[in-house]
Amino acid sequence: MYLSKDEEKILSGEEGEAKQLALKLIVRVGEALGAQKLIDIVHAHISGISYDNIGDEGLQLIRDFWEKGGRTSVFSTFNPAGISIGIESPLNTDKEYVKKQLEILKYLKLMGFKESYTCTPYEIREPKPYEHLAWGESSAVAVANTLYNAYTNKEGGPLALASALVGKTYYWGLHLEENRKPNILVKYKASYKLYEPYSGLLGYYIGKTLGDAIPFIDIHFPTKRSIIDYAAAAASTGNIILTKTKNNTVGRDLDFDYMDKIVVDDTEIKQVLDEVSTATIDEVDIFFTGCPHKTFSDLLNLIEKLQILHINRLTKPIWIAVPGTLGRKLKKLTKILVEKNIQVLPGSCLVVSRLRDLVNAVATDSLKTAFYLPRRHRVRVAITTLDEFIKHYGR
Ligand code: F3S
Repeated sequence: MYLSKDEEKILSGEEGEAKQLALKLIVRVGEALGAQKLIDIVHAHISGISYDNIGDEGLQLIRDFWEKGGRTSVFSTFNPAGISIGIESPLNTDKEYVKKQLEILKYLKLMGFKESYTCTPYEIREPKPYEHLAWGESSAVAVANTLYNAYTNKEGGPLALASALVGKTYYWGLHLEENRKPNILVKYKASYKLYEPYSGLLGYYIGKTLGDAIPFIDIHFPTKRSIIDYAAAAASTGNIILTKTKNNTVGRDLDFDYMDKIVVDDTEIKQVLDEVSTATIDEVDIFFTGCPHKTFSDLLNLIEKLQILHINRLTKPIWIAVPGTLGRKLKKLTKILVEKNIQVLPGSCLVVSRLRDLVNAVATDSLKTAFYLPRRHRVRVAITTLDEFIKHYGR
């Protein structure tokens, strides 16, 4: 691999042990993949920071980088944790677990990571088209490539951490323009409008059916959130981290005649719905939304909706995951949240939390949640919309 003089210096240890180790890791992986050179990035985002996922070994690795002098070289953020930040929640009951999780977060902050605790780093810093990133959360990677036309591969936790420290990644995969062309045409003929949960159902089907293709879907997604839900699901059931759509591509530039085609009709959407539905709305313990994270406005809209409908209290709670940075803002809402039976989970991810024994069945509008909760926590799932849940459990 070609290395610039500055990169050679880092590799020889002139800029400290942490950077040397980080660059070694990136160069090794890049060489194994056949990358010719490195490229500067403007934003690193790391996943795999939940203590439930990485355990003591992961904690040790992060602490080692800190002790060896590791400091971020570019704007860097990190994913949600397995606990809630700045607020009490059912996810924070195991004190030993909370302690270890906080230790991981402490070293990340000491190294210069922005306190983000979110899988929606694009809400903190919107990527610009053609910018190179090194992100490690599959849903965020898919959103960056698909919605923002930024360039990133899906990096594992240690590699994204290494990129945060040196501000570089290997020039390979989706960083190269020639690898970003769609290779299969998806004709969407289903009657469902692509709002929650239908964009997620489409994503679930596309990921499962197409594996790691770059599809072109001949539709215009109606909202930013519908693209986010689609992208998160497609990156879970498959490795779809870039999709071209009518939102981001001019169709006439593409040579459809040479592409394979598939058609998605009501049958395919219903097939996914049947596959993931393992509980009824009557059996669920909670409604969960916020995978990927919802925004503060989404939370305010929910409260307003309940007020407009004169719903004093939900008989079963709504859990909503939002970025951990919202902790302070939430304090002012405590009374109304308790009254209405809404549990906010700032900075949390249910999938990587200690969910054991807390819930048996969950209603959700997130197909990424529907994919992971049964596999990781043996939790059954009902796919519903927020409105359906409110209608069912609002008093
Ligand atoms: Fe975010 Fe966790 Fe879902 S990281 S996308 S809330 S699985």
